[in-house]
Amino acid sequence: MKIWLAACVACAAFGVAHAAAKQCIDSPGKVLEVCISTSGGGAFYEVRRAGHAILERAALGIVFAGEKVPQVSRITGSERHSHDETWEQPWGEQRMIRDRHSELRVKLHGDTPNSDAFDVVMRAFDDGFAFRYDYHGIAPGKPVEITDELTQFRPAGEYRAWWYEAYHKERDEYLYHSSTLNEVTRAETPFTLESPQLYLAIHEAALVDYASMTLARTGPNTLKADLMPWSDGAKVRRTGPFITPWRMVLVGRTPGELVDSRIELNLNEPNKLGDVSWVKPGKFVGVWWEMHINRSTWGSGEQHGATTQNVERYIDFAARYGFNGVLVEGWNTGWDGDWIAHGDQFSYTRTYPDFDLTAIANYAHDKGVQLIGHHETAGAVTNYEAQMEDAFALYQEHGVRVVKTGYVRPNGTIIRPSADGSVNHEWFAGQYMVRHHQHVVETAARYKIAVDVHEPVKDTGLRRTYPNMMTREGARGQEYNAWGDPTNPPEHVVILPFTRLLGGPMDFTPGIFDVAHGKTDVAKRVQSTLANQLALYVVIYSPLHMAADLPENYLRHLDAFQFIRDVPTDWERSKTLSAQIGDYIVVARQQRNGPDWYLGALTDEQARKLDVSLDFLAPGKRYLAQLYRDAPDADYRTNPLAYEITERTVTAADRLALTLAPGGGTAIRFKALE
Ligand code: NOJ
Ligand code: CA
Repeated sequence: MKIWLAACVACAAFGVAHAAAKQCIDSPGKVLEVCISTSGGGAFYEVRRAGHAILERAALGIVFAGEKVPQVSRITGSERHSHDETWEQPWGEQRMIRDRHSELRVKLHGDTPNSDAFDVVMRAFDDGFAFRYDYHGIAPGKPVEITDELTQFRPAGEYRAWWYEAYHKERDEYLYHSSTLNEVTRAETPFTLESPQLYLAIHEAALVDYASMTLARTGPNTLKADLMPWSDGAKVRRTGPFITPWRMVLVGRTPGELVDSRIELNLNEPNKLGDVSWVKPGKFVGVWWEMHINRSTWGSGEQHGATTQNVERYIDFAARYGFNGVLVEGWNTGWDGDWIAHGDQFSYTRTYPDFDLTAIANYAHDKGVQLIGHHETAGAVTNYEAQMEDAFALYQEHGVRVVKTGYVRPNGTIIRPSADGSVNHEWFAGQYMVRHHQHVVETAARYKIAVDVHEPVKDTGLRRTYPNMMTREGARGQEYNAWGDPTNPPEHVVILPFTRLLGGPMDFTPGIFDVAHGKTDVAKRVQSTLANQLALYVVIYSPLHMAADLPENYLRHLDAFQFIRDVPTDWERSKTLSAQIGDYIVVARQQRNGPDWYLGALTDEQARKLDVSLDFLAPGKRYLAQLYRDAPDADYRTNPLAYEITERTVTAADRLALTLAPGGGTAIRFKALE
């Protein structure tokens, strides 16, 4: 794989400018201008777009334990660079990514020992900006503790926010609110703002050995970085010198521009794992939905799902219909009783007696299918860490290439034992867990295993650096549509692309065909049409997608199932064609290593007609468009399984009129014709 396609153009520093009290930089296309200044003992940044203030003067800096809030008295120097390179992802939503930005490094002096000499590194792109702190002035090895990060975000003007409150029991698994910015309390990121003219999304990139950032609203139009603390109140513990994650703001004129921004990946370090040809995108089925709809159990007994015989049934199905993997949950001991409370009982190497790992692995191998492993920790991370090497080694021996991990445990109760044996309760995304997840990804990489993390720390683009960090959950996924109190409303999947998915791939587990799964109350089952379930494979990007339903439900609709069989999970390029947050979205993606395009359109509870230009197709080429769409009488409430499959020949000069039912969608394969 060629990582560096074009050499860095004009990377030379322009030299150290004299230390004026304000330093500004334009984005390469002069769309954004970002300025850093000092005044009245503080350091600040502000941002203009096309000459208009979009973020007002907002504070910068960090407060350390044992020190006062630093007075930042002056800029002592600055450096500027411009950067333009195009790099290749080993897998992804887009193969080639352009990183074009201007960088301004401002050197600051504050009046406390740790803030004596630090830099703010600002990068301006045309579709957003980001900055990080570089505390290079702290002596090597000196331990420091961060008690507060002063960073603010102060959007100018009136915005609606798309958000949910941080620090609740189910971590990131909440439905989104839409409210005015000034009704926000404490929000998780990606945090998205909408106005008639502009869309902003605040998030972070390259979250490594630091606490994850939530946003506390501290005043009118003012949000402040609120770092998820350790159980003893410290925010971050580091040794000098250190750099922080990037604080990132995407800026778009349309919601689609937020979705199509690649800034987050550009802010992460290049691949550190070398040859990652062993990391393979793909699709899987699994012993999974049947547990969530109470047809079988994770624990042992008559209803046990992970039996040799049942798993072989899924392997047969996967082999027959061209799936790469079969996920098996509940094969290892520890699931009996209240497993969420007793994660320390999990063994990651001992199987239940009715599950023969070696026989199953051989069976899968003979059929050309890989097992997908599962490590549920229930938040007992030390129990997991103690077994991790053995656990990955066992999987490696059995040909497992992907492991799904899980951390089901109420937020704020992750168990961290102290040296004296006492137990501390940590948040799911404080520095302790950020370090843990990093350790898992690096360990898995040594065994050439990729990970799919459930109940994760939010995605900040680390897949660029560790391409075995493939996908994760981190939002209300399909599983909520099994549990039913209540299930995800139709608008959930037309909010996710503009919020959670700005962070990165999601293991949503689409593809439920039997949307009612025995329920009569629509609020207790999947609230979508079947065609909507197909479109999710295109709209939600993940290098690993599950076909989540039971095999028998696919056999009832083999014609519609064909779309799930065909749709790739690795793309040459991706484009958001049209969108409105919470209402609808249309996404087109071209398969990697092939000429075909795929389109996914989703709507909320409203029926919708969408007129789509096909100008993304290669000019002059003819395509067979295979449309999987809602039938005229489809409705997620009353007639969810009514779909039609039609075909027609199209070119880039055509337009398509899409008709989406309430809770509906359209999925299209554009098959290139020679
Ligand atoms: C929650 C995960 O999201 C789900 O996929 C998994 O089946 C259960 N935990 C059990 O680990
Ligand atoms: Ca979950």
